[in-house]
Amino acid sequence: MLKNARFLVSNTDHRKCPAPSKPEFAFIGRSNVGKSSLINMLTNHKHLAKISGKPGKTQLINHFSIDDRWFMVDLPGYGFAKVNKKLKADWDKMIRAYLTERENLTAVFVLVDSRLPPQKIDLEFIQWCGQLELPLVLLFTKADKQSQSKTAENVHLFLDEMEKLFVEAPEFFVTSAVNRQGRDELIQFIEENVTE
Ligand code: GTP
Ligand code: MG
Repeated sequence: MLKNARFLVSNTDHRKCPAPSKPEFAFIGRSNVGKSSLINMLTNHKHLAKISGKPGKTQLINHFSIDDRWFMVDLPGYGFAKVNKKLKADWDKMIRAYLTERENLTAVFVLVDSRLPPQKIDLEFIQWCGQLELPLVLLFTKADKQSQSKTAENVHLFLDEMEKLFVEAPEFFVTSAVNRQGRDELIQFIEENVTE
């Protein structure tokens, strides 16, 4: 499935987002980790979500409608050092308000760069999500950039760190927007969790 994807609306205020009448799957993670790229890969679009080599491309809460059945949401990244403090604080507030208040969140996909060992900023964000009991799923991105064994090592290290934060580690997928790794598994996960 996942036939028809269309952009709906961009917001800074979660209260102006589409009525929470359908299951929602949000993509969040550090700036430049590959959120928008993964959305395009999943939906088979080149330019549905805006992509950039420069971090900080996505600045709003972007809603997409998938097959008129569920919402996919592209969010701005956290931890982008090169924007001014005020803007950073505004994004932070916007994302956290969205995640705290949005009642139809079926899954919050937290994207983590598979090239890197565990990063404090990701772990802190995940811990915050955990306290809110958000339905977390980890997506390791850019797996095409290194060997499978290196990816596996970083995934393992990350899950070890997670265990220190949670009793149970969340479900996870290894992905690449370049070679489409993880696409079928991720779509299957979404399908299983879209309840009419
Ligand atoms: P912000 O909107 O700035 O928070 O970034 P983002 O997380 O949406 O990242 P985006 O999708 O814009 O991608 C950032 C950069 O990483 C771009 O240059 C992409 O081409 C590249 N990229 C994203 N995913 C992959 C991937 O799976 N493999 C490789 N090799 N590059 C990727
Ligand atoms: Mg983006």
